[in-house]
Amino acid sequence: MSDNTSSRVLVAGATGYLGKFVVKAFKAQGYQVRVLTRSEERLYKEGPFTAPPLVKSDVDEVFVGEITKPQTLAGIMDGVDLVFSSVGISRQRDGLSFEQVDYQCNRNLIDQCRDSRVKRFVYVSMQGAENIMQLAITQAHEKVVASLKSSGMEYRIVRPCGYFSDMGALYDMAKSGRAFLVGDGTNKMNPIHGQDLARVCVEAAEGDELEVEAGGPDVMTQREAAILAFDVVGKAPKITVIPMWLARGLVKFIGMLSSQFGDLAEFIVTAGEIDGVGPKRGTTTLRSYFEGMHAANAKS
Ligand SMILES: NC(=O)c1ccc[n+]([C@@H]2O[C@H](COP(=O)([O-])OP(=O)(O)OC[C@H]3O[C@@H](n4cnc5c(N)ncnc54)[C@H](OP(=O)(O)O)[C@@H]3O)[C@@H](O)[C@H]2O)c1
Repeated sequence: MSDNTSSRVLVAGATGYLGKFVVKAFKAQGYQVRVLTRSEERLYKEGPFTAPPLVKSDVDEVFVGEITKPQTLAGIMDGVDLVFSSVGISRQRDGLSFEQVDYQCNRNLIDQCRDSRVKRFVYVSMQGAENIMQLAITQAHEKVVASLKSSGMEYRIVRPCGYFSDMGALYDMAKSGRAFLVGDGTNKMNPIHGQDLARVCVEAAEGDELEVEAGGPDVMTQREAAILAFDVVGKAPKITVIPMWLARGLVKFIGMLSSQFGDLAEFIVTAGEIDGVGPKRGTTTLRSYFEGMHAANAKS
């Protein structure tokens, strides 16, 4: 274990899929861990798709604040050396846009670092962002990256491929007997487990590489991942393809009803047609992840 016992890290996003693993990974490396959350209760609950609950000993200090409201963040950086943020919208339904959360919330944190002793800020963006800059989520992420680059602070950007938490939806569909894929599912990806990615994030925080891409050990197509999920649940694969022309039409329709859901839908549809392959930094296989979900399901 490296000696980080005098370094204090602030983790924002600690109630999320990646954030929970990251808190545990920093703690295991000896850091003093302060977390920012809007709900202390949610820290200690298991998250969706196997995000582990935190236990009291994972966390040294809990700062309860609303990252959307800078006035609630006063003093948050006191004594902090390093900031990690994975704050962003995935399944939240707060009625806020990617600009308001993925950009502005992280911008609020960067602003709090001014006149503090924070030396380095680690931010989680996405792999292959340059290929999908038309999306609101990518624009928001990359505005944070640009803000960090011009902040004068040291920065590290982690650029992960898809998370296993997103693959969990494939397991759920296979269990129900039918999987739906947007597009023909031939696009390639190597998603990564949150625990593996958390290790990459801590290594990035301590290393010299400014931008770190990270994927899991298996490169496969969406369709192969769906078939794998059926194999693990022991059912014959039944896959329904939602053609791209229909998916794009639906995105337009959803966008007319709500720009927030339209942006989210556009992201999901785009992810169904582009490759998302990065350096293999994770070691946990998707099969073992699905098998773990299946074993947990069998018990409950
Ligand atoms: N999923 C993927 O495949 C993937 C791939 C590459 C990059 N990423 C990026 O990785 C980051 C983390 O992803 P994740 O799956 O860990 O997300 P997650 O589980 O949804 O966690 C997101 C965190 O942001 C916080 N947050 C969201 N909206 C908020 C709001 N309005 N006010 C206060 N806090 C808010 C959440 O707090 P609450 O728990 O209180 O809501 C949570 O702590 C995101 O920026 C995502 O875009 C994801």
